[in-house]
Amino acid sequence: MTALADATMHAEPGEFVAVMGSSGSGKSTLLHLIGGLDQPTSGSVRMAGQDIARMSDRDRTLFRRNHIGIVFQAFNLLPTLTALENVMLPAMIDGRSGAELRDRAKSLLESVDLGHRLNHRPQAMAGGEQQRVALARALVNDPIVVLADEPTGNLDTQHAQEVWRLLARLVREQGCTVIAVTHEPSGATFADRVVVLKDGLVTGEITPDGEGNASLVAARYATLVG
Ligand SMILES: Nc1ncnc2c1ncn2[C@@H]1O[C@H](COP(=O)(O)OP(=O)(O)OP(=O)(O)O)[C@@H](O)[C@H]1O
Ligand SMILES: [Mg+2]
Repeated sequence: MTALADATMHAEPGEFVAVMGSSGSGKSTLLHLIGGLDQPTSGSVRMAGQDIARMSDRDRTLFRRNHIGIVFQAFNLLPTLTALENVMLPAMIDGRSGAELRDRAKSLLESVDLGHRLNHRPQAMAGGEQQRVALARALVNDPIVVLADEPTGNLDTQHAQEVWRLLARLVREQGCTVIAVTHEPSGATFADRVVVLKDGLVTGEITPDGEGNASLVAARYATLVG
């Protein structure tokens, strides 16, 4: 069967794009293709002038490691490492270490308001805090794009709002692109643009026009998928 039929999307550096669509519409498949976790049977995935759909498995893995930050719904932090160590890990896998990396990880944790939690382990932190660590970790290698699949799906409304606000701010500060899948109209309002999927096709786009306009996004969404 076809998970994604004819989904064309484009995102600019510094742009925050949300992806909405009902369960099974192909949102995760789209993110996996963009992130090089899956390969399309046809079509291309262009990033920084390269088509990652045509790379060898090894090159695609390296490209992902160096240029793509991924945030999952389940925070996926390593339980035996501190917040600081979790953030440093992707860079260490990439062969970096030392004081410069430690400073970078520390400043990222400060930028997600966790400067006071550097040496805490995940189980000593609330869900919203863990997801902010995961966000800092996704940024440590200066990615071209950060992909987030329902990043606030395990959080209550208030902590979800904090994560969306930080995502929006970090895109601006770091100049990377964020593509985030969500079911929450209130979260999608933080995006510059919302791409709506239906049955593996892009069925339309919504421009939220500012944070907090959740009822507008919900109404437009309902007409697009209805
Ligand atoms: N590896 C796969 N091979 C074939 N079909 C798949 C595969 N993974 C998912 N599918 C199917 O593709 C469609 C899209 O799935 P996908 O997981 O992308 O949806 P989704 O929009 O992320 O849904 P949800 O909101 O439930 O997470 C579904 O019909 C799913 O059953
Ligand atoms: Mg999904």
